[in-house]
Amino acid sequence: TNAPLVDRFGRTHTSMRLSVTDRCNLRCQYCMPDGPLKFLPRAEVLTFEEITRLVAVAATMGVRKLRLTGGEPLVRSELPRLVTMLRTIDGVDEIALTTNALLLAEQAEPLRRAGLDRLNVSLDTVRDEPFREISRRDGLGRVLAGLEAAGRAGFTRIRLNAIAMRGFTEAEAPHLARFARAGGYELRFIEYMPLDADGGWQADQVLSGAELRELLAAEFGPLEPSARPTPSQPATDYRWTDVEGPGAVVGFINPVSEPFCDACDRLRLTAEGQVRNCLFSTEEWDARELLRSGADDNALRQLLSDCVAAKKRGHGIDDAEFVRPERAMYQIGG
Ligand code: GTP
Ligand code: 5AD
Ligand code: SF4
Repeated sequence: TNAPLVDRFGRTHTSMRLSVTDRCNLRCQYCMPDGPLKFLPRAEVLTFEEITRLVAVAATMGVRKLRLTGGEPLVRSELPRLVTMLRTIDGVDEIALTTNALLLAEQAEPLRRAGLDRLNVSLDTVRDEPFREISRRDGLGRVLAGLEAAGRAGFTRIRLNAIAMRGFTEAEAPHLARFARAGGYELRFIEYMPLDADGGWQADQVLSGAELRELLAAEFGPLEPSARPTPSQPATDYRWTDVEGPGAVVGFINPVSEPFCDACDRLRLTAEGQVRNCLFSTEEWDARELLRSGADDNALRQLLSDCVAAKKRGHGIDDAEFVRPERAMYQIGG
């Protein structure tokens, strides 16, 4: 059957986030470990053909929106080819990408030509020294060049995603806001979640969206609530009335202080072909095994329904019995 992917709480799943690699060219503190890393061996990573087959099956069950994530998706070679392949799937109406933009200057054009609709760029700071501190690497110049190239390649409504971490983001937020307001980018802040590789997350390190909103309003003037374009969008948007266009918008993704799980419509596929029903799920469904053993489409459909059927009401970060997922953000996919 092609039954839609509805879970026990009535949430219909229409969005799939596809991690194409666990590798990254940065080592952000809130995501990756500092020390030596063990990445997936090539043979364990799904091929573009395997990803496309699974997504085509998911599309028969109502998946409409795709987002490529990682690790850093642009370190996977030939990514535009995957976009081209996904574009041919019936039912898919949006393909987006979340990237750190280090390699975007070279790839913006080919990605646009392949049919990528939208880009979100992770940018925690627009200052060199804090960039080095948070990402443990150099490269702010390349990121900014990547952003410019994306604009030239025809991407509009580019969103900037900044982490919201106490002790770091307070000082960066005003600079980011100035940059986004002038550059015509939508800016969003994401509360730090317990998905860092070092296991160091503490609740008091979360800089809440409410606190950031106050800080930004004090600096740049009042922020008006802005309608949520789609109910499932994680960000709560506000706007400055003194700016025209996308640069007026600042959004807050508050998974910790104001969980948005009730409206969740997202499934995730890890780079090695495991399907997850939540960023925080402790269980995974092995699609790779099915894809590589000649299983038919119905078996894949069954796996997707099973995964959705087991979805919990919410992430439960605040619960006494909360257990962190074994894997960190870079291994799950943003
Ligand atoms: P838009 O389609 O532009 O709204 O993108 P998005 O917000 O769905 O995707 P993006 O990759 O820009 O998300 C930014 C960050 O928000 C992610 O890296 C996560 O940290 C967080 N986020 C996105 N989706 C979820 C989710 O389902 N649950 C939680 N807890 N956080 C999420
Ligand atoms: N908490 C919140 N967001 C995170 N990201 C990575 N790790 C975390 C975390 N622990 C976000 C980054 C980037 C996106 C890919 O994932 O800010 O924008
Ligand atoms: Fe969905 Fe899980 Fe994110 Fe909640 S934490 S919005 S259930 S993916």
